[in-house]
Amino acid sequence: MSYARVEIAPSILAADFARLGEQVRAVEQGGADVIHVDVMDGSFVPNISIGVPVVASLRKATQLPLDVHLMIDRPERYIEDFVRAGANRVLVHQEATPHLDRALSMIRELGAEAGAAINPGTPVVMLNDVLGKMDTVLVMSVNPGFGGQQFIPGAFEKIRHLNEWRARYNAAYRIEVDGGVDLENAAELAQAGANTFVAGTSIFHTPDPAAATREMRRLASKAFSQRV
Ligand code: DX5
Ligand code: ZN
Repeated sequence: MSYARVEIAPSILAADFARLGEQVRAVEQGGADVIHVDVMDGSFVPNISIGVPVVASLRKATQLPLDVHLMIDRPERYIEDFVRAGANRVLVHQEATPHLDRALSMIRELGAEAGAAINPGTPVVMLNDVLGKMDTVLVMSVNPGFGGQQFIPGAFEKIRHLNEWRARYNAAYRIEVDGGVDLENAAELAQAGANTFVAGTSIFHTPDPAAATREMRRLASKAFSQRV
């Protein structure tokens, strides 16, 4: 099942954009499973980052799946463009569209894996009716918009809920956590049931991103196998 293994997803938001290919290769060597790509529109979140052309370039630079986190209003307007550019997984925010169900269906119909993200202020119950349509649930552990923010502990409770539901309904979604994830909290997050770990600062703002990736996997894998 897709959630039965831990995945490390370095977030290139914290990478040096002038050396993106090189930085992606470094985390690949550290055993990264997925590359997390943060797309921001300056409206849904107060920051602007990168868009479709960067995803297309990354597609040529790596074989790893691209996990495209759309922090944009009405993401359904751009889903097709991102999938065509090479996104393997597309994550839309529950708060960004009145048509979450439709957006998730669109992603799958285009042949990508679908995910929904929730902000720290959004309860998990908002995803109840679309649980079967998601390959990933993304729990934001910071308010989206910037890298390097402090982890908000409320994410733990949400991860535990999603982990419980996953077992109860025999569902197969991954539980992904994003924001302030580091070597200090990765094990506890894995124990709560998270299996995809997005990490920007704690990987790229270190002297050796490959080693940081490897160490996060070691800590998270050990704890995930001991989860309740
Ligand atoms: C925040 C982004 C994150 C960000 C995480 O809005 O969604 O993916 O890159 O950065 P860190 O790991 O530095 O908190
Ligand atoms: Zn993200």
